[in-house]
Amino acid sequence: MSARRARVRAAAGLRGTVRVPGDKSISHRALILASQAAGGCVIHGLSRGGDVRNTARALRALGVALGPWGSEPLPVAGAGLGGWREPAGVLDFGNSGTGIRLMAGMLAAHPFFSVLSGDRYLRRRPMRRVAEPLRLMGAHIAGRAGGTLAPLAIAGARLAGIAYRSPVSSAQVKSSLLLAGLLAAGETAVTEPERSRDHTERLLRFLGIPVRVSGTTVSLTGGTAWRARDLTVPGDPSAAAFLLAAAAISPDAEVTVRDVCVNPTRTGFFEILRAMGGRVRFTRRREACGEPVADVTAAASDLRGIDVPPSLVPQTIDEFPILAATALFARGTTRITGAAELRVKESDRIRTMCHELGKLGGRVRELPDGLEIEGGRPLRGAACTSHGDHRVAMSLAVAGGTIRGETRIADTACVATSFPGFWDLLRGLGARVVEG
Ligand code: S3P
Repeated sequence: MSARRARVRAAAGLRGTVRVPGDKSISHRALILASQAAGGCVIHGLSRGGDVRNTARALRALGVALGPWGSEPLPVAGAGLGGWREPAGVLDFGNSGTGIRLMAGMLAAHPFFSVLSGDRYLRRRPMRRVAEPLRLMGAHIAGRAGGTLAPLAIAGARLAGIAYRSPVSSAQVKSSLLLAGLLAAGETAVTEPERSRDHTERLLRFLGIPVRVSGTTVSLTGGTAWRARDLTVPGDPSAAAFLLAAAAISPDAEVTVRDVCVNPTRTGFFEILRAMGGRVRFTRRREACGEPVADVTAAASDLRGIDVPPSLVPQTIDEFPILAATALFARGTTRITGAAELRVKESDRIRTMCHELGKLGGRVRELPDGLEIEGGRPLRGAACTSHGDHRVAMSLAVAGGTIRGETRIADTACVATSFPGFWDLLRGLGARVVEG
């Protein structure tokens, strides 16, 4: 990552109504499924973050015709089910776990050779969780460290559906297998300990592909082609969370984010914020492409710490950095447990948040599977770093916007992987932030 950095000072009274980028998870899925449809479509509201852009580039390298990256909506010419062509070079997914894992599933079932890689952070993240079950379906996948780390080399093969019990609740694992299952013979079923985000299932249904759900098992039958349909991606709740948290912890603030995806598998942070005493409300509820959408408003709140129920972990999984930062401003202790998955995200988010919030004066204890944050302590701006993790950078910016002194955040280029425009939006609401 480049040497970009941010400087933040306290500001009260954040106010405004804004929109955030299209949901990152849905954007990856919309692109992948549109590229395999029969016929062309347009995608409205696609995320223009670096992660989704890398998936778009990979699709182009696989022979899919997409409109220019800046077009809104973005046209996609579907190549038909199984219609991708062998890429001439390495497919680079940058920082994106979703990009590489979902594409690995589909590529495993295409009859050609492909190599999937990413940046130095992605090359450290576990790939066994998708490579192993895909191999059980008949895939030929090699990789570093005994086939468990990227770069991954895939020699496409004829796959057969399996019934797989995943040891982790992971939408990336589930979706990778379901996408492979679309091209596999027979039925593919994935069972998780708890249900992860269900965007793949919803989008498949929207496109007319039957998906069966029973408890925590999702299944489909391979070989069903679909016709292209225009798609609309709602705003990303994981991006909105930063602006809404900033409103909740800043005096006299009120911020509305319009058109946010409020799929219940994604709204854990808003539920937790409410349980902490946060003033959060959803209005104008509606639906887009099978996803529930609403405007979400948060206002200055008197927060208290809580024990976060482990049952809320899957639907909060990307919001623990901002939750930890928010908890600094709550009376009493907030305890997060059952979240060991945080250790294998863009950074080890348990360690990085403990470390960085500690620099601001926060009393934060690292637990094997979570964090304990003592709120209400005196805090002061300090020199922090993102560890190359977009959500760590944005969480530190939000915390820094409410405390005395200047908070400096090193290595902020990563923010553009998910939330280009974050700094301008924050400034537009009244925050005192300089980035560059
Ligand atoms: C995602 C699933 C989650 C999440 C990630 C996006 C997805 O990861 O943390 O940001 O789009 O499927 P896991 O599947 O590893 O939990």
